[in-house]
Amino acid sequence: MKKSLLLLLVFAYAVSSKAQIDNSPIVGVGNAVNPYNYTIVKAKQFKNASVTCAHPLASMVGAEVMKRGGNAFDAAIATQLVLAVVYPEAGNIGGGGFMVARTTLGKTISIDYRETAPNKATRDMYLDKDGNVIPKLSLQGHLASGVPGTVAGLFETFKYARKPFKFLIQPAIDLAEFGFIISESEAKGLNNTRESFIKNSTGPSAYIKETPWQAGDTLVNKDLAETLKRIRDYGQRGFYEGKTALLIVEEMKQGGGIISLDDLKNYKAKSRTPLEFKYKGYSIIGMPPPSSGGIIIEQMMKMIEKRNIARYPFQSPQQVQLMVEVERRAYADRAEHLGDPDFWKVPLKTLGDDAYLAKRMADYDSTKATASKDIKAGKIHESDQTTHLSVLDKESNMVSVTTTLNGGYGSRTVIGGAGFIMNNEMDDFSSKPGTPNMFGAIGGAANAIQPNKRMLSSMSPTLVLKDKKPYIVAGTPGGTTIPTSVFQTLVNLLEYNMSAEDAVNKPKFHHQWLPDQVDVEPTFTSTTKTAMEAMGYKFANRAQLGRTEVIRILPSGKRETVADSRGDDSVSGY
Ligand code: DON
Repeated sequence: MKKSLLLLLVFAYAVSSKAQIDNSPIVGVGNAVNPYNYTIVKAKQFKNASVTCAHPLASMVGAEVMKRGGNAFDAAIATQLVLAVVYPEAGNIGGGGFMVARTTLGKTISIDYRETAPNKATRDMYLDKDGNVIPKLSLQGHLASGVPGTVAGLFETFKYARKPFKFLIQPAIDLAEFGFIISESEAKGLNNTRESFIKNSTGPSAYIKETPWQAGDTLVNKDLAETLKRIRDYGQRGFYEGKTALLIVEEMKQGGGIISLDDLKNYKAKSRTPLEFKYKGYSIIGMPPPSSGGIIIEQMMKMIEKRNIARYPFQSPQQVQLMVEVERRAYADRAEHLGDPDFWKVPLKTLGDDAYLAKRMADYDSTKATASKDIKAGKIHESDQTTHLSVLDKESNMVSVTTTLNGGYGSRTVIGGAGFIMNNEMDDFSSKPGTPNMFGAIGGAANAIQPNKRMLSSMSPTLVLKDKKPYIVAGTPGGTTIPTSVFQTLVNLLEYNMSAEDAVNKPKFHHQWLPDQVDVEPTFTSTTKTAMEAMGYKFANRAQLGRTEVIRILPSGKRETVADSRGDDSVSGY
């Protein structure tokens, strides 16, 4: 080997191993991330690596982890843990999520850390003696929670990481222990949830204080810091066993919940085969069941594939009508056929089959609305929150994670002494066939409650390859609007050649079969609305649809990174 080449290799090794061993604190005044002074960055191109997610502190920590030699998996772990502290409405250790990833060597991965129904759960647990759904029982308080999956998911993800777990969790510990400045929207969220926290928790917590929260206040959560330290010191068992598990079960006992020590000890995250399909020259990689997201997106993309959608002007009546009609058909399949594949035979192959989908579109009429079956419209909840993070590192490891407590601040139960909020994911089951849940989604046997079963999800972490090479990392919160938001983002990027910023921020629309209406954001074009009303469509306003986080690799190799303009979402990278 030539001497100069050898020297170069030695130098490269020295630089990379220095980066790998730089495990000094990331958070704190004087360190890379200052929790008392930070700003939101909406879009930027980065040379090497980037993160986009719902909170600037979480993006910054993720990016710093990669700067110090961590890969996208390291960053995704650290970012999620920080979100659990700084973004309590959706970031979590008391909830669950999904990860879809692709390593630099081309291995595709999906990790399912969805919550499960406790062992004591029963099909009719939310019905009264007359068989009617008891309002809010699956949404608030101790009975609303599934067994949390996030911590198990993080350790499953850790198999692909490079840095020590202790290093990855420390920023979250420091933020919980020493506090961080909250934003205006966080202050508003905490104030609006105050009474609900008090009603649904048995003890005090950091989220409740005497006077109203204001932007700029410091939120300190010592109980959460101690819980995170137990995870740091004892790994997964620091959450699912020992003191944390005892605190969870004690809270459940006092509040009438049913999660047991065995439920916690037996929880397992699952590696699943990602759902992959081709769309023109692209490969799209998504989440398989128990998420409905991957398969619905596959169905919708394939139903438009041969119709040359880009010949219609952007958001013209023709384009929107075609997309609404494919959405209607995909969501009708969701209600009937999708549930936890470990409990229900999901006909995945048929649902994505070209001939089947062509048949589904056989009655499509480009001059009028197809009617969904007549059924009582579900009420759509406005203040729900989930959260998505997209990460891409220097070597083009791609990681897409969507994680949630379900509704904003979950069940509003804070585990006494442990400082974290529990999910209200049980509402994603179908409590009663045909009765809409919080998102207006209906379901039947496929998604009925059974002990240890995972409730059906819409979360759709998604990756796109172009000519078999890494291209896009994307995803969003939004309940049942998630697959349609991802669908639109992909159509905007792949068919309308938009910048990632436009693809994310243009107004969105949504149809989910039932209720039979097109939901639109306030800035959706009124001429298209009027033209479609004449064809028989009904419209409803939604304050916002999704908070989509996209990273796309430009031909220059730069990472075009965008955080949705709809929230405090922010990008970071280097
Ligand atoms: O898994 C699901 O589909 C829902 N629990 C997601 C909830 C959600 O996205 C709320 N966010 N806006």
